[in-house]
Amino acid sequence: MRIGVISDIHVDINRDYDIYGALTEAVRGQGADLLVIAGDISENSDELLAFMDRLNTDGIPSRFVPGNHDMWDVGGTYAGGDTWKVWEKYCASPWCLSGPDTKHDLELPGGWVLTGDIGWYDYSLASAKFTAEELSKKKFGGRTWMDSYKAHWGMTDRELDEKMRSMLEARISARTAEGKKIILVTHMLTHPYFKVLRPGMWEYFNAFLGSSAYAELCMKYGVKMSLMGHVHHRQELTDQGVRYICACLGYHSEWKTDDCRKETAEALKVFEI
Ligand SMILES: [Fe+2]
Ligand SMILES: [Fe+2]
Repeated sequence: MRIGVISDIHVDINRDYDIYGALTEAVRGQGADLLVIAGDISENSDELLAFMDRLNTDGIPSRFVPGNHDMWDVGGTYAGGDTWKVWEKYCASPWCLSGPDTKHDLELPGGWVLTGDIGWYDYSLASAKFTAEELSKKKFGGRTWMDSYKAHWGMTDRELDEKMRSMLEARISARTAEGKKIILVTHMLTHPYFKVLRPGMWEYFNAFLGSSAYAELCMKYGVKMSLMGHVHHRQELTDQGVRYICACLGYHSEWKTDDCRKETAEALKVFEI
């Protein structure tokens, strides 16, 4: 079975480009039997779910986890409200891997299983020169991390990360006990290798990209693969038996070319299980 993974397709921000056409062409062209999107699809939840419905209706079996942008529900029912309501809306979708238990997993041939959720960040990827209090402001050098305005989880980032990770650990642990080969999907980074290495503001803003605790979780339970996005890089790493893939399309303003089809085909990473 061939699985294609991509993330951060941002169909709203990239609206001037035919992301749907480019993605379906890339999936079919590269022979993927299943598509996994690791979050940041659209800031509006209805648009996101319609996109996933369309893929699945058009004969491309597809699953997703939401990203942080997907939780804002811009122009939707829950904009500015309780972010857990948006999360619950996604959990109710048959195409979404998020949720509190293993019924949200997707079992695959050969004893493989896809499990996942958005994940969150715990500031562990930031430079140690910043205190937790400084980082919790999500403001640096005149710039503000937008989750601080648009996501309303009713708890601190570390509490949220802990909650998300413990839900995922329960699912991973149950699947490990069944002898399954696990593919973990998160939006957030699971390994410090993928953080932004440029000096300056990213020493601060790396705080909001993920958590190194997920790599420890992968090693503890023998997770085979960890798929992620969020950082708008396209990179891969194998570390201590775990294969990590970060396959971001990103904003059109970040692309090397103006060719949507070329960028999408390059961002999509296909692997065999
Ligand atoms: Fe993104
Ligand atoms: Fe993101």
